[in-house]
Amino acid sequence: MEFFDVIDCRHSVRTYRADPVPDELIVQCLEAARMAPSWRNGQCWRFLIVRDAATISQLAAQRIYGYPINHWLRSAPVVVVACAEPGESGLHGDLPYWAVDTAIALEHLVLAATALGLGTCWIGGFNEDTVRKLLGIPAHIRVVALTPLGYPAEREAVFGRFVKTIARSRRRKPLAGIVRYERWD
Ligand SMILES: Cc1cc2nc3c(=O)[nH]c(=O)nc-3n(C[C@H](O)[C@H](O)[C@H](O)COP(=O)(O)O)c2cc1C
Repeated sequence: MEFFDVIDCRHSVRTYRADPVPDELIVQCLEAARMAPSWRNGQCWRFLIVRDAATISQLAAQRIYGYPINHWLRSAPVVVVACAEPGESGLHGDLPYWAVDTAIALEHLVLAATALGLGTCWIGGFNEDTVRKLLGIPAHIRVVALTPLGYPAEREAVFGRFVKTIARSRRRKPLAGIVRYERWD
């Protein structure tokens, strides 16, 4: 797939087919993440690949602000947990580069997945301690984000369509609203 088609095709997928994802495709996605830029090339990212259906159901059952907002995650055959080893990155003032590095790497993975016909959805709605306990992640490792990885279902389930509608997912601010040239003022 052409790069700009990948950018155009990527969207948050919240309903998956049960088909397993071949290991070679998972590795291709991880290789794309591995090539991401990072603070002093520290490569602080760590990826945990979860394929156990019972564990994925437990990740999906977490309540955020009292609601299991990501319960749809149960349909995913694979969940990638993007973590960071903060000691291998840095702080720029109060900006934590471990989060920046890991976010860039995860987006590489997301775009590679799109190019391979796989769906993803960036998930920030999780409880870090719950995820740590469930997956045996040590306290010094930060959990930055999760994404399901799998073949998108032909038709998004009702909840996915609902989220897309309320988030107005395809809507983007125009360039005029987000870009300034030469100076801010
Ligand atoms: C940091 C971050 C956290 C997000 N957390 C969630 C989440 O917990 N659950 C969810 O369904 N979508 C989540 N999303 C997906 C956004 O809702 C989605 O990217 C946005 O609505 C634009 O839609 P699109 O990805 O289909 O283009 C998150 C996205 C980002 C970047």
